[in-house]
This record gives sequence, structure tokens and C-alpha cells, in this order.
Amino acid sequence: MINIALIGTGSIARTHVKSMLELDDKCKLVALADIYPEKAMDLAQTNQLKAKIVSDYKSLLDDPTIDAVSICTPPYTHKDITVDFLRAGKHVLVEKPMASSLKECDEMIEAQKESGKILSVVAQNRFRTPIMSLKNVLDKELIGRIAHVQVDSFWWRGNSYYDLWWRGTYEKEGGGCTLNHAVHHIDMLQWMMDMPVEVGAMSSNMLHDNAEVEDISVALLKYANGALAQVTSSVIHHGEEQQLAFQGEKAKVSVPWKVKAEVARENGFPTENGNAELEKELEQEFSDFPKLHHEGHTGQINDFLTAIEGGTDVLINGIDGRKTLELIMAIYQAASTGSTVKLPLTKESPFYQRDGVLKNATYFFEKKKAVENFSDNEITTGGNY
Ligand SMILES: NC(=O)c1ccc[n+]([C@@H]2O[C@H](COP(=O)([O-])OP(=O)(O)OC[C@H]3O[C@@H](n4cnc5c(N)ncnc54)[C@H](O)[C@@H]3O)[C@@H](O)[C@H]2O)c1
Repeated sequence: MINIALIGTGSIARTHVKSMLELDDKCKLVALADIYPEKAMDLAQTNQLKAKIVSDYKSLLDDPTIDAVSICTPPYTHKDITVDFLRAGKHVLVEKPMASSLKECDEMIEAQKESGKILSVVAQNRFRTPIMSLKNVLDKELIGRIAHVQVDSFWWRGNSYYDLWWRGTYEKEGGGCTLNHAVHHIDMLQWMMDMPVEVGAMSSNMLHDNAEVEDISVALLKYANGALAQVTSSVIHHGEEQQLAFQGEKAKVSVPWKVKAEVARENGFPTENGNAELEKELEQEFSDFPKLHHEGHTGQINDFLTAIEGGTDVLINGIDGRKTLELIMAIYQAASTGSTVKLPLTKESPFYQRDGVLKNATYFFEKKKAVENFSDNEITTGGNY
């Protein structure tokens, strides 16, 4: 049995608790920490947890009964809490985004290496059957050379979303929708395509005037072989119709699942029916992929627990979390400086450290209103893609 402490007991913590209760043959929640301990108490009561409640996570560092922690606090706190627990000999699962700067990611990775403990960064949508299945189709190279990827990270949040005290500022949230919403899709993109070599971008804030950060960005990515990707990160899209679409030499595949394989006529125009045989093969490959037993957060927490039990690595470790943040920081750098950015980002990049981000990012509006908590803590985590 792996004993877990949950740090930060707000909205996403509820999902972690639900998943941990589903995995109660493997783990037990033994402690909850929140700077508002009444929130931790409420979460414990609602779920009938017999857990220790504390307001300062540091009082849990030396607790020998705790094996692992799940960090569900705002982004600006992730680095310190992660490093403290790793150094105290605990395994760490940290919510996305891994941190608010690459320097912080490097410190977390260093602490992980020194401690020999497991560090995993949440990107729960990798643990969905259609996503794993799409990844399998791409890995088998059935669509040929990939020429273009379209990533629509379309979300919708109302103006009051940014009223929560830590949201909407570079200092505490770390960035806008490119960092905190599109992080899911950018993680999947780099998992499926690896890293690009060049990034260009523009960003704006059209509809959220209580936030310094962007509510939309559009980025263009170029890969070493010349392939292009376009990534739209947004919290202004009604309907949240998200997708990742890969255009290969022989066929297009996407989530939500769609497949199309064109064949050229003598004059280069597409035939009426395309390559039905390849389409059938792709359909088969996609649908034959075994259904995951645990999806979303439960899938990822199960992966984390399995790694602790078996001494194996997790699917999304600190290096993976850092890659996603590197791509996001390149988008911020490109959008803020108006010039294309070459990857990898170096330590000299103006967006490597948090101070650099604070100094160089584009500030759209001044955050004037802040609420400590919403009375409604229910959240949605968007589409399944
Ligand atoms: N994976 C997902 O789909 C998903 C969805 C939503 C949020 N998130 C991430 O989860 C994290 C938390 O987001 P949320 O929406 O739950 O926010 P929230 O504000 O609802 O919850 C955060 C909680 O952390 C507490 N807290 C803040 N600083 C703390 C500290 N130093 N020590 C202990 N507790 C502290 C706050 O009081 C609050 O209760 C963020 O990083 C966010 O990006 C992930």
C-alpha cells in the first residue's frame, strides 16, 4: 500500500481523490495540505477520508508514513514543493504545467536524479484509448511521412475565470491559455512528433480584461525534416471543438478519429474513392488497440503507482514535462519578441528563467479583481483529446 499526501485541495484535487479511491487496492490518502485548511477538511469530510490535515506542507516532509505526494497547487508553487518532497525522499506527481519556467524544471529534474525517487508530470489525456491508439497508428508509420499537424486546443472560459487570485498573472499562473490549457495538446504533440526546430507565434487577449496573459495564441512550428505544425491555444472558442490532425504522405488521421487516404489521378487531382484499402487498414489498427482499463487521471495515477511498486519509469517523467514547457516558452518568446525562435532554448534565452518571463512577456491587461475562492469548485477538464 502506497501512502499518499495531497498538496493543494482545490478543484483538480477532487479528481485526484476520486482516482485514488478507485485505486484503493494500491494507495491510501493519508494527509491533505492546503493554505486554506478548511478546504482540506471539507474534501476529507465529503469523501470520508481519515487523513491528517495541515496548512503548511512542510510539516509533512519528515512524516515517515508518507511515501508519495500529489501536488495540486498553482503553477508558481510547483518547483519548491516538488524539490522539497523529492529531497525528503518522497515520490512526486505534480500537476501540469510542470513549473512556470525551464530553470525551475531543471531544478526539479536535478532533485529527482539526486533522490532516485519518481517524478511524474500530469498529462492525463495521454491515458485515453483514442490517444494511445492514435500514437500507435503514427508509430507504425502507416500514413507515411507526416507533412502537417493541426492542433486546435480550443477551450472556453468566461471573464470571471481569471478572478481567482492566482490566475491571469505571469507571476502566479505563469502564462495564459498557451501554458495552462494547451499544455495538454502540446504535450501530446511533442510525444507524437518530438520537438520542432523553429517556432513563430502571435498572441492576443480579446475577451478577458482581468488578466495580464493571452486568451489566444497561434503558433507555427517547423520540424527538422521541413514538416509544419500549427497550434492554436485558446479560451475563447465556444464549443471547445478540440482536435489533433496529422496529414501524412499517404493518409490523414486525427482525434476525434477520422481517416482519409487520397490517391492521385493521372492529372494529380484526387480520385473519387481514394485508397479504401489503406483506410480500412488504418480503421482496423485504430479499433484493434486494447481499451485502457484506467483512463485520464486514474490512468496516470495508476502508472505512477505501478512505477513506484515496480521500480520502472513513468510514461511522463520530468524530462517529458520539461519538453512541453520548452515548446510553450518558445511560443511565448516568439509571440513577445515578434521573431522566430530556434530550439532548443538555451539558458541565455530571455524566457529560460521566471524573471525573464516576467520582464519580457506581453502584458495585455492589468489584473484588478481577485477572489480568494469561488463558492462553486466544480470544474470541467475539457474534451477527451
Ligand atoms: N490536469 C488537468 O486537467 C487540470 C485541470 C485543472 C487544473 N489543473 C492544474 O492543477 C493546479 C491547481 O489548479 P486548480 O484549478 O485545482 O486550482 P485551485 O485554486 O482550485 O486549487 C489550488 C489549491 O492549492 C492551494 N494552495 C495554494 N498554494 C498552496 C501552498 N503553497 N500549499 C498548499 N496549498 C496551496 C489553494 O488554497 C487551493 O485550494 C494548477 O497547476 C492547474 O494548472 C490541472
